[in-house]
Amino acid sequence: METRHEMRAGPVRGSSTSRFLNPCVVGFVVVAVVVILAVTIGLLVHFLAFDQKPYFYRSSFQILNVNYSEQLSSPGTREYRILSERIESLISKTFRESDLRNQFIRAYVVKLRRDGNGVRADIVMKFKFTRNNNGDSMKKKIESILHQMLNNSGNLEINPSTEVTSITDQDAVVLFTSECGARSDLITLSEERIIGGTKAEEGDWPWQVSLQANNGHHCGGVLISNTWVLTAAHCFRRYPDPYTWTATFGISTKIPKLRIRVRNIIVHSNYNPVTHENDIALVQLNREVTFTKNIHRVCLPAPTHNIVPGSIAYVTGWGSRRYGGNTVTDLEQARVRIIRNSVCNAPDKYNGAILPGMVCAGVPNGGVDACQGDSGGPLVQEDSRRLWFLVGIVSWGYQCGLPDKPGVYTRVTAYRNWILQEIGI
Ligand code: ARG
Repeated sequence: METRHEMRAGPVRGSSTSRFLNPCVVGFVVVAVVVILAVTIGLLVHFLAFDQKPYFYRSSFQILNVNYSEQLSSPGTREYRILSERIESLISKTFRESDLRNQFIRAYVVKLRRDGNGVRADIVMKFKFTRNNNGDSMKKKIESILHQMLNNSGNLEINPSTEVTSITDQDAVVLFTSECGARSDLITLSEERIIGGTKAEEGDWPWQVSLQANNGHHCGGVLISNTWVLTAAHCFRRYPDPYTWTATFGISTKIPKLRIRVRNIIVHSNYNPVTHENDIALVQLNREVTFTKNIHRVCLPAPTHNIVPGSIAYVTGWGSRRYGGNTVTDLEQARVRIIRNSVCNAPDKYNGAILPGMVCAGVPNGGVDACQGDSGGPLVQEDSRRLWFLVGIVSWGYQCGLPDKPGVYTRVTAYRNWILQEIGI
Protein backbone atom coordinates (compact mmCIF):
# COMPACT_ATOMS: atom_id res chain seq x y z
CA MET A 1 0.00 0.00 0.00
CA GLU A 2 2.62 2.49 1.01
CA THR A 3 4.88 1.73 -1.95
CA ARG A 4 2.10 2.28 -4.45
CA HIS A 5 1.24 5.61 -2.87
CA GLU A 6 4.82 6.90 -3.14
CA MET A 7 5.08 5.90 -6.78
CA ARG A 8 1.93 7.76 -7.65
CA ALA A 9 2.85 10.92 -5.71
CA GLY A 10 6.42 11.06 -6.97
CA PRO A 11 6.03 12.11 -10.62
CA VAL A 12 3.32 14.73 -9.97
CA ARG A 13 5.34 16.82 -7.52
CA GLY A 14 8.78 16.15 -8.98
CA SER A 15 7.89 17.21 -12.52
CA SER A 16 7.29 20.89 -11.73
CA THR A 17 10.46 23.01 -11.38
CA SER A 18 8.47 26.13 -10.37
CA ARG A 19 6.63 24.48 -7.53
CA PHE A 20 7.63 27.25 -5.10
CA LEU A 21 5.89 29.84 -7.21
CA ASN A 22 2.81 27.83 -7.69
CA PRO A 23 0.07 30.21 -6.44
CA CYS A 24 -1.72 27.34 -4.77
CA VAL A 25 1.34 26.49 -2.70
CA VAL A 26 2.00 30.14 -1.82
CA GLY A 27 -1.60 30.59 -0.80
CA PHE A 28 -1.45 27.49 1.31
CA VAL A 29 1.73 28.59 3.07
CA VAL A 30 0.29 32.02 3.82
CA VAL A 31 -2.90 30.55 5.21
CA ALA A 32 -0.91 28.06 7.30
CA VAL A 33 1.31 30.80 8.77
CA VAL A 34 -1.69 32.97 9.60
CA VAL A 35 -3.49 30.08 11.25
CA ILE A 36 -0.44 29.13 13.32
CA LEU A 37 0.08 32.74 14.43
CA ALA A 38 -3.56 33.18 15.33
CA VAL A 39 -3.60 29.98 17.37
CA THR A 40 -0.37 30.93 19.17
CA ILE A 41 -1.61 34.42 20.00
CA GLY A 42 -4.97 33.02 21.03
CA LEU A 43 -3.38 30.51 23.39
CA LEU A 44 -1.06 33.12 24.86
CA VAL A 45 -3.91 35.55 25.48
CA HIS A 46 -5.95 32.73 26.96
CA PHE A 47 -3.25 31.62 29.39
CA LEU A 48 -2.11 35.10 30.35
CA ALA A 49 -5.42 36.87 30.61
CA PHE A 50 -8.17 34.31 31.15
CA ASP A 51 -6.81 31.06 32.48
CA GLN A 52 -7.14 31.53 36.22
CA LYS A 53 -5.42 29.28 38.68
CA PRO A 54 -6.25 28.87 42.39
CA TYR A 55 -3.75 30.14 44.96
CA PHE A 56 -3.87 29.51 48.70
CA TYR A 57 -2.71 31.87 51.44
CA ARG A 58 -2.66 31.48 55.18
CA SER A 59 -2.82 33.99 57.95
CA SER A 60 -3.23 33.95 61.69
CA PHE A 61 -5.35 36.54 63.46
CA GLN A 62 -4.77 37.37 67.06
CA ILE A 63 -8.18 38.35 68.40
CA LEU A 64 -7.76 40.64 71.38
CA ASN A 65 -11.27 41.16 72.68
CA VAL A 66 -12.55 37.58 72.87
CA ASN A 67 -11.59 35.52 75.91
CA TYR A 68 -10.57 31.97 75.24
CA SER A 69 -12.87 29.42 76.84
CA GLU A 70 -13.10 25.64 76.80
CA GLN A 71 -16.09 26.13 74.49
CA LEU A 72 -13.72 27.22 71.73
CA SER A 73 -11.58 24.08 71.90
CA SER A 74 -13.88 21.95 69.76
CA PRO A 75 -15.33 22.84 66.32
CA GLY A 76 -18.59 21.24 67.40
CA THR A 77 -19.67 23.98 69.76
CA ARG A 78 -21.99 26.89 68.98
CA GLU A 79 -19.34 29.33 70.27
CA TYR A 80 -16.69 27.95 67.89
CA ARG A 81 -19.06 28.13 64.94
CA ILE A 82 -20.29 31.63 65.70
CA LEU A 83 -16.81 33.11 66.15
CA SER A 84 -15.45 31.35 63.04
CA GLU A 85 -18.38 32.51 60.95
CA ARG A 86 -17.94 36.08 62.18
CA ILE A 87 -14.29 36.07 61.15
CA GLU A 88 -15.01 34.44 57.80
CA SER A 89 -17.77 36.87 56.92
CA LEU A 90 -15.62 39.83 57.95
CA ILE A 91 -12.86 38.68 55.57
CA SER A 92 -15.28 37.84 52.76
CA LYS A 93 -17.06 41.18 53.03
CA THR A 94 -13.74 43.04 52.97
CA PHE A 95 -12.48 41.32 49.83
CA ARG A 96 -15.85 41.53 48.06
CA GLU A 97 -15.70 45.30 48.50
CA SER A 98 -12.06 45.55 47.39
CA ASP A 99 -10.12 45.53 44.11
CA LEU A 100 -9.73 41.80 44.52
CA ARG A 101 -13.48 41.13 44.45
CA ASN A 102 -13.09 39.05 41.28
CA GLN A 103 -10.08 37.16 42.59
CA PHE A 104 -11.31 36.30 46.08
CA ILE A 105 -12.99 32.91 46.43
CA ARG A 106 -13.25 31.95 50.08
CA ALA A 107 -11.80 32.36 53.55
CA TYR A 108 -12.00 29.61 56.13
CA VAL A 109 -11.04 29.43 59.80
CA VAL A 110 -9.24 26.09 60.11
CA LYS A 111 -8.50 26.38 63.79
CA LEU A 112 -9.17 28.47 66.89
CA ARG A 113 -6.44 28.30 69.51
CA ARG A 114 -5.66 29.79 72.90
CA ASP A 115 -3.31 32.76 72.75
CA GLY A 116 -2.67 34.18 76.21
CA ASN A 117 -6.16 34.93 77.44
CA GLY A 118 -7.32 35.67 73.93
CA VAL A 119 -7.90 33.63 70.82
CA ARG A 120 -5.83 33.00 67.72
CA ALA A 121 -7.57 32.03 64.48
CA ASP A 122 -5.69 30.21 61.71
CA ILE A 123 -7.13 31.15 58.37
CA VAL A 124 -6.82 29.76 54.86
CA MET A 125 -7.81 32.01 51.96
CA LYS A 126 -8.29 31.03 48.35
CA PHE A 127 -7.92 33.38 45.41
CA LYS A 128 -7.80 32.80 41.70
CA PHE A 129 -5.81 34.83 39.27
CA THR A 130 -4.03 34.56 35.97
CA ARG A 131 -0.39 33.59 35.53
CA ASN A 132 0.69 37.11 34.57
CA ASN A 133 -0.06 38.28 38.11
CA ASN A 134 2.98 37.32 40.06
CA GLY A 135 2.41 35.77 43.46
CA ASP A 136 4.43 38.31 45.35
CA SER A 137 2.54 41.37 44.17
CA MET A 138 -0.72 39.56 44.92
CA LYS A 139 0.50 38.76 48.42
CA LYS A 140 1.21 42.46 48.99
CA LYS A 141 -2.22 43.44 47.71
CA ILE A 142 -3.92 40.85 49.94
CA GLU A 143 -1.91 42.01 52.92
CA SER A 144 -2.72 45.67 52.41
CA ILE A 145 -6.45 44.95 52.05
CA LEU A 146 -6.36 42.83 55.21
CA HIS A 147 -4.52 45.56 57.10
CA GLN A 148 -7.16 48.09 56.21
CA MET A 149 -9.75 45.63 57.46
CA LEU A 150 -7.90 44.90 60.70
CA ASN A 151 -7.67 48.58 61.51
CA ASN A 152 -11.42 48.79 61.24
CA SER A 153 -12.75 45.38 62.09
CA GLY A 154 -15.96 46.41 63.83
CA ASN A 155 -16.58 44.65 67.12
CA LEU A 156 -13.78 42.13 66.63
CA GLU A 157 -10.51 43.62 67.78
CA ILE A 158 -7.71 41.98 65.79
CA ASN A 159 -3.97 42.63 66.06
CA PRO A 160 -3.32 44.62 62.86
CA SER A 161 0.25 43.44 62.37
CA THR A 162 -0.85 40.26 60.70
CA GLU A 163 1.14 38.52 58.01
CA VAL A 164 -0.02 36.62 54.98
CA THR A 165 1.92 33.65 53.63
CA SER A 166 1.50 31.96 50.30
CA ILE A 167 1.06 28.22 50.80
CA THR A 168 0.96 25.16 48.56
CA ASP A 169 -2.09 22.93 48.13
CA GLN A 170 -0.24 20.39 50.28
CA ASP A 171 0.17 22.92 53.11
CA ALA A 172 -3.57 23.58 52.93
CA VAL A 173 -4.22 19.83 53.26
CA VAL A 174 -2.05 19.71 56.40
CA LEU A 175 -3.87 22.67 57.94
CA PHE A 176 -7.31 21.20 57.26
CA THR A 177 -6.55 17.62 58.27
CA SER A 178 -5.02 18.66 61.58
CA GLU A 179 -8.65 19.44 62.45
CA CYS A 180 -11.57 17.07 62.00
CA GLY A 181 -14.44 16.62 59.59
CA ALA A 182 -13.32 18.32 56.35
CA ARG A 183 -14.22 16.51 53.16
CA SER A 184 -11.86 16.96 50.21
CA ASP A 185 -14.21 19.51 48.61
CA LEU A 186 -13.81 21.73 51.67
CA ILE A 187 -10.04 21.25 51.76
CA THR A 188 -9.76 22.68 48.25
CA LEU A 189 -12.29 25.39 49.23
CA SER A 190 -14.19 24.54 46.07
CA GLU A 191 -17.36 26.45 45.41
CA GLU A 192 -19.53 23.55 44.42
CA ARG A 193 -20.25 20.49 46.49
CA ILE A 194 -22.29 17.70 45.03
CA ILE A 195 -23.11 14.41 46.60
CA GLY A 196 -24.89 12.50 43.87
CA GLY A 197 -25.69 8.94 42.98
CA THR A 198 -24.77 6.10 45.23
CA LYS A 199 -21.09 5.56 44.36
CA ALA A 200 -18.68 7.53 46.51
CA GLU A 201 -15.54 9.13 45.15
CA GLU A 202 -12.09 9.07 46.75
CA GLY A 203 -12.01 11.75 49.46
CA ASP A 204 -15.79 12.03 49.87
CA TRP A 205 -15.84 10.13 53.18
CA PRO A 206 -12.19 10.22 54.29
CA TRP A 207 -12.96 8.81 57.77
CA GLN A 208 -14.56 5.62 56.42
CA VAL A 209 -12.71 2.45 57.42
CA SER A 210 -13.23 -1.17 56.33
CA LEU A 211 -12.64 -3.57 59.21
CA GLN A 212 -11.55 -6.90 57.82
CA ALA A 213 -11.37 -10.28 59.52
CA ASN A 214 -8.81 -12.52 57.78
CA ASN A 215 -8.64 -9.91 54.98
CA GLY A 216 -12.34 -10.07 54.14
CA HIS A 217 -14.55 -7.01 54.68
CA HIS A 218 -16.66 -7.60 57.75
CA CYS A 219 -17.73 -4.25 59.14
CA GLY A 220 -17.45 -0.52 58.63
CA GLY A 221 -15.62 1.77 61.04
CA VAL A 222 -14.93 5.47 61.52
CA LEU A 223 -11.57 7.12 62.02
CA ILE A 224 -11.80 9.44 65.06
CA SER A 225 -8.07 10.04 65.64
CA ASN A 226 -4.85 8.90 63.98
CA THR A 227 -4.92 5.63 65.91
CA TRP A 228 -8.55 4.98 66.91
CA VAL A 229 -11.50 3.70 64.93
CA LEU A 230 -15.04 3.75 66.29
CA THR A 231 -17.31 0.86 65.28
CA ALA A 232 -20.11 -1.42 66.51
CA ALA A 233 -19.70 -3.96 69.33
CA HIS A 234 -21.57 -6.69 67.45
CA CYS A 235 -18.80 -6.78 64.80
CA PHE A 236 -16.59 -8.74 67.21
CA ARG A 237 -18.98 -11.47 68.29
CA ARG A 238 -17.54 -13.97 65.84
CA TYR A 239 -13.87 -12.86 65.88
CA PRO A 240 -12.97 -11.30 69.24
CA ASP A 241 -9.19 -11.64 68.71
CA PRO A 242 -7.56 -8.35 67.55
CA TYR A 243 -4.89 -10.24 65.57
CA THR A 244 -7.57 -11.48 63.17
CA TRP A 245 -8.32 -7.93 62.11
CA THR A 246 -6.94 -5.29 59.77
CA ALA A 247 -8.30 -1.87 58.85
CA THR A 248 -8.21 -0.58 55.28
CA PHE A 249 -8.67 2.94 53.95
CA GLY A 250 -9.78 4.27 50.56
CA ILE A 251 -13.03 3.70 48.67
CA SER A 252 -12.07 0.31 47.23
CA THR A 253 -11.73 -2.74 49.46
CA LYS A 254 -10.12 -4.59 46.52
CA ILE A 255 -7.31 -2.06 46.07
CA PRO A 256 -7.08 -0.22 49.41
CA LYS A 257 -4.99 2.91 49.74
CA LEU A 258 -3.68 1.77 53.12
CA ARG A 259 -3.87 -1.30 55.33
CA ILE A 260 -3.03 -1.34 59.05
CA ARG A 261 -3.22 -4.17 61.57
CA VAL A 262 -5.42 -3.90 64.64
CA ARG A 263 -3.66 -3.80 68.01
CA ASN A 264 -6.54 -3.71 70.45
CA ILE A 265 -10.33 -3.88 70.61
CA ILE A 266 -12.41 -2.28 73.38
CA VAL A 267 -16.01 -3.52 73.32
CA HIS A 268 -18.50 -1.64 75.51
CA SER A 269 -18.72 -3.69 78.69
CA ASN A 270 -22.52 -3.41 78.79
CA TYR A 271 -23.15 -4.38 75.19
CA ASN A 272 -26.34 -6.42 75.04
CA PRO A 273 -26.73 -8.52 71.86
CA VAL A 274 -30.41 -9.15 72.56
CA THR A 275 -31.52 -5.52 72.90
CA HIS A 276 -28.59 -4.13 70.84
CA GLU A 277 -27.97 -1.74 73.71
CA ASN A 278 -24.48 -0.14 73.83
CA ASP A 279 -23.56 -1.44 70.38
CA ILE A 280 -20.26 0.44 70.30
CA ALA A 281 -16.57 -0.51 70.28
CA LEU A 282 -13.17 1.15 69.86
CA VAL A 283 -10.42 -0.28 67.70
CA GLN A 284 -6.80 0.74 68.19
CA LEU A 285 -4.59 0.61 65.12
CA ASN A 286 -1.13 -0.86 65.28
CA ARG A 287 0.45 2.39 64.09
CA GLU A 288 -0.51 6.01 63.46
CA VAL A 289 -2.21 7.01 60.23
CA THR A 290 -0.59 9.96 58.45
CA PHE A 291 -3.57 12.06 57.49
CA THR A 292 -3.98 12.96 53.82
CA LYS A 293 -6.69 14.73 51.85
CA ASN A 294 -8.43 11.37 51.43
CA ILE A 295 -7.73 9.78 54.83
CA HIS A 296 -8.47 11.69 58.04
CA ARG A 297 -10.78 11.90 61.02
CA VAL A 298 -14.42 12.86 61.41
CA CYS A 299 -15.60 15.31 64.11
CA LEU A 300 -17.19 13.87 67.24
CA PRO A 301 -20.27 15.76 68.46
CA ALA A 302 -20.42 17.24 71.95
CA PRO A 303 -22.71 15.26 74.31
CA THR A 304 -25.16 18.17 74.06
CA HIS A 305 -25.08 18.24 70.24
CA ASN A 306 -28.67 18.36 68.99
CA ILE A 307 -29.61 15.72 66.40
CA VAL A 308 -32.60 17.34 64.72
CA PRO A 309 -35.45 15.03 63.60
CA GLY A 310 -36.04 15.46 59.86
CA SER A 311 -32.51 16.68 59.15
CA ILE A 312 -30.42 15.08 56.42
CA ALA A 313 -27.67 12.57 57.17
CA TYR A 314 -25.52 10.25 55.08
CA VAL A 315 -24.68 6.64 55.78
CA THR A 316 -21.78 5.04 53.95
CA GLY A 317 -20.39 1.54 53.59
CA TRP A 318 -19.59 -1.55 51.57
CA GLY A 319 -22.70 -3.38 52.79
CA SER A 320 -25.05 -5.35 50.55
CA ARG A 321 -27.45 -3.54 48.25
CA ARG A 322 -30.37 -5.67 49.38
CA TYR A 323 -31.16 -7.91 52.32
CA GLY A 324 -29.34 -11.22 51.81
CA GLY A 325 -27.10 -9.84 49.03
CA ASN A 326 -23.31 -9.66 48.84
CA THR A 327 -21.14 -6.84 50.10
CA VAL A 328 -19.71 -4.51 47.43
CA THR A 329 -16.09 -3.50 46.73
CA ASP A 330 -16.67 0.20 45.99
CA LEU A 331 -17.89 2.44 48.78
CA GLU A 332 -21.51 3.58 48.54
CA GLN A 333 -23.46 6.35 50.22
CA ALA A 334 -27.14 6.84 51.04
CA ARG A 335 -29.00 10.01 51.97
CA VAL A 336 -31.47 9.55 54.82
CA ARG A 337 -33.31 11.65 57.38
CA ILE A 338 -33.17 11.50 61.16
CA ILE A 339 -36.34 10.07 62.74
CA ARG A 340 -37.41 11.04 66.26
CA ASN A 341 -37.17 8.12 68.74
CA SER A 342 -40.84 8.45 69.75
CA VAL A 343 -41.84 8.18 66.07
CA CYS A 344 -39.49 5.24 65.49
CA ASN A 345 -41.00 3.46 68.51
CA ALA A 346 -44.54 3.55 67.10
CA PRO A 347 -46.34 0.14 67.02
CA ASP A 348 -46.07 -0.08 63.20
CA LYS A 349 -42.34 0.69 63.37
CA TYR A 350 -40.09 -0.70 66.10
CA ASN A 351 -42.73 -0.82 68.81
CA GLY A 352 -40.62 0.35 71.75
CA ALA A 353 -37.29 -1.31 70.85
CA ILE A 354 -35.55 2.02 70.25
CA LEU A 355 -33.70 2.90 73.46
CA PRO A 356 -32.29 6.34 74.35
CA GLY A 357 -28.79 5.36 73.16
CA MET A 358 -30.11 4.70 69.65
CA VAL A 359 -31.23 6.90 66.78
CA CYS A 360 -33.27 5.97 63.69
CA ALA A 361 -32.70 7.25 60.15
CA GLY A 362 -34.36 6.43 56.86
CA VAL A 363 -36.72 7.68 54.17
CA PRO A 364 -40.54 7.62 54.43
CA ASN A 365 -41.23 4.88 51.88
CA GLY A 366 -38.11 2.83 52.50
CA GLY A 367 -35.72 1.85 49.73
CA VAL A 368 -32.76 3.82 51.09
CA ASP A 369 -30.96 2.28 54.06
CA ALA A 370 -27.81 0.68 55.36
CA CYS A 371 -27.71 -3.12 55.18
CA GLN A 372 -25.63 -6.18 56.11
CA GLY A 373 -21.92 -5.31 56.08
CA ASP A 374 -22.49 -1.61 56.78
CA SER A 375 -22.44 -2.22 60.53
CA GLY A 376 -20.00 -0.13 62.50
CA GLY A 377 -19.92 2.46 59.73
CA PRO A 378 -20.74 6.16 60.03
CA LEU A 379 -23.98 8.13 59.90
CA VAL A 380 -22.77 11.72 59.44
CA GLN A 381 -24.21 15.21 59.18
CA GLU A 382 -22.71 18.40 57.78
CA ASP A 383 -22.78 21.59 59.83
CA SER A 384 -23.17 25.16 58.59
CA ARG A 385 -19.39 25.45 58.12
CA ARG A 386 -19.27 22.29 56.00
CA LEU A 387 -17.64 20.17 58.72
CA TRP A 388 -18.91 16.61 59.10
CA PHE A 389 -19.97 15.18 62.47
CA LEU A 390 -20.53 11.57 63.43
CA VAL A 391 -24.06 11.20 64.79
CA GLY A 392 -24.60 7.45 64.48
CA ILE A 393 -22.94 4.07 64.05
CA VAL A 394 -24.74 1.50 61.87
CA SER A 395 -26.19 -1.01 64.36
CA TRP A 396 -29.33 -2.88 63.36
CA GLY A 397 -32.65 -2.88 61.52
CA TYR A 398 -35.39 -5.25 60.42
CA GLN A 399 -34.07 -6.47 57.06
CA CYS A 400 -33.09 -3.49 54.87
CA GLY A 401 -34.93 -0.59 53.29
CA LEU A 402 -38.44 -1.74 54.19
CA PRO A 403 -41.10 0.95 54.72
CA ASP A 404 -41.60 1.67 58.43
CA LYS A 405 -38.40 -0.23 59.24
CA PRO A 406 -35.66 2.41 59.16
CA GLY A 407 -32.03 1.83 60.04
CA VAL A 408 -31.14 1.95 63.72
CA TYR A 409 -27.87 3.52 64.77
CA THR A 410 -25.91 3.85 68.00
CA ARG A 411 -26.48 7.47 69.11
CA VAL A 412 -22.92 8.79 69.35
CA THR A 413 -23.78 11.77 71.58
CA ALA A 414 -24.93 9.29 74.25
CA TYR A 415 -21.47 7.69 74.21
CA ARG A 416 -19.34 10.79 73.89
CA ASN A 417 -18.29 10.55 77.54
CA TRP A 418 -17.70 6.78 77.29
CA ILE A 419 -15.21 7.46 74.44
CA LEU A 420 -13.55 10.16 76.53
CA GLN A 421 -13.24 7.82 79.51
CA GLU A 422 -11.87 4.93 77.48
CA ILE A 423 -9.30 6.66 75.32
CA GLY A 424 -9.19 10.29 76.42
CA ILE A 425 -10.47 11.92 73.23
N1 ARG B 1 -26.29 -5.60 61.59
C1 ARG B 1 -25.95 -5.30 60.25
C2 ARG B 1 -24.49 -5.61 59.99
O1 ARG B 1 -23.93 -6.41 60.69
C3 ARG B 1 -26.29 -3.91 59.88
C4 ARG B 1 -27.76 -3.74 59.82
C5 ARG B 1 -28.20 -2.41 59.42
N2 ARG B 1 -29.51 -2.62 58.92
C6 ARG B 1 -30.29 -1.70 58.48
N3 ARG B 1 -31.45 -2.06 57.99
N4 ARG B 1 -29.96 -0.44 58.50
O2 ARG B 1 -23.91 -5.19 59.02
